[in-house]
Amino acid sequence: MSNVVVIGTQWGDEGKGKVVDLLASRADLVVRFQGGNNAGHTLVVKGEQTICHLIPSGILHENKKCLIGNGVVVDPVVLLEEIGTLREKGIDITAGRLSLSEKSHLIMPYHKALDQAREAAKGKNKIGTTGRGIGPCYEDKAGRRGIRAIDLMEPETLEEKIRDNLDEKNFLLTNFLNADALEFQPIFDGCLKMAEDLKPFIRDVSLEVDRASKAGEKILFEGAQGTHLDIDHGTYPFVTSSNPVSGSVCAGIGIGPNKLHHIIGIVKAYTTRVGAGPFPTELFDETGNYMQEKGAEFGATTGRRRRCGWLDLVMLKDSIRYNGLTSLSITKLDVLTGLERLKICVAYDLFGKRTDSMPASLKHLAQCVPVYEELPGWNEDISRARDMDQLPENAKSYLQRIAEIAEVPLSIISLGAKREQTIELMDPFR
Ligand code: GDP
Ligand code: IMO
Ligand code: MG
Repeated sequence: MSNVVVIGTQWGDEGKGKVVDLLASRADLVVRFQGGNNAGHTLVVKGEQTICHLIPSGILHENKKCLIGNGVVVDPVVLLEEIGTLREKGIDITAGRLSLSEKSHLIMPYHKALDQAREAAKGKNKIGTTGRGIGPCYEDKAGRRGIRAIDLMEPETLEEKIRDNLDEKNFLLTNFLNADALEFQPIFDGCLKMAEDLKPFIRDVSLEVDRASKAGEKILFEGAQGTHLDIDHGTYPFVTSSNPVSGSVCAGIGIGPNKLHHIIGIVKAYTTRVGAGPFPTELFDETGNYMQEKGAEFGATTGRRRRCGWLDLVMLKDSIRYNGLTSLSITKLDVLTGLERLKICVAYDLFGKRTDSMPASLKHLAQCVPVYEELPGWNEDISRARDMDQLPENAKSYLQRIAEIAEVPLSIISLGAKREQTIELMDPFR
């Protein structure tokens, strides 16, 4: 018995959704542990695209249980919409299949208003958040004034909490952020209505995962965002407000580290970033446009154009350390087809000295000049390869060089958005 954690190693959108969907066929439970609907995880199955924002990416597999842990911040409106959209597609979402932790914190309308008003107030210094209220919701959680899923079951508690929060939020919105105040009644009434629909799903996710584990079931933990968007280890303050690193699985579900066995880092074959913040290997030329267009690099949540650049192994090595990665899954290798020369950043040059880890100071990071190693590209269509031997030599060399420098073995290679466009080199559940 082995459980698997899937983690983004870059700035998100590495293809976690595709890999989770693929591995879910071998798991019994798929569990989210952090983030919220800032995530957009794309699954392409039988020619149809599904984007999961809150519901774990195992949902397309019948009979797999999908759980949302306490570490996730949940916008109840979005969750109910997602349930509705999936049901319209004929996917069975019953209380037996989906659980929402009673301890998960709820994103309220004032969190979205604050997120958007703060970004507007920052002007050109904005973070480029998804505007989904993620940061303000985590702030309230840490500030011990958050509203949890369980509060939906206690209208009196809910009323008091919403009133207290609104007093403070409306003061901030109107006096400090130049935005409009929100009214209590529509928020409270909306919550009461949603409480009815969500009630069947709200339960103790920690207990459920523990029971499944004791029964020998296999668990797949689905990370959102990416390691370099981590509030502690990312390019702060251009980060999200949670810890997407593997260590956060335990706190975000309520289980011990002995339940984590194999930790897969998802690595896009190049680098992308959506939103503001430093990006040492970013390209502003035709090659960057080629990656953006060929990789259809638009945000799955906000539709924003993703910035593109060469693969950065300095970032990857930091990710390997922060997460304890046991294997790497390289995605979107097909996007690099057609480029004559490929570059991978193997170190940074900072004030004439070689640096192997991302500096904490953004001023220093801005001074880092990538040190590149060049490799030859390939022109052959690789999207139909199902085995390493079917790849051109140069594509194999590119993959091997990554594994060699990373000192972590490769487990899954993705060559297209579809579930079957994959080469599996090992079964992480074994
Ligand atoms: P996630 O947030 O990490 O799940 O990634 P996203 O879904 O936001 O972005 C990844 C995008 O690339 C999606 O549109 C996927 O359908 C697509 N994709 C995933 N793997 C591959 C691949 O190997 N090749 C290509 N061309 N597209 C892929
Ligand atoms: P998935 O799970 C890419 C980015 C935002 C912004 C920063 C902070 O699909 O990989 P937030 O709304 O979280 O306060 O925004 O983080 N961001 C993501 N970028 N993929 C994601 O999720 C992201 N979730 C947040 O663009 O730069
Ligand atoms: Mg995404």
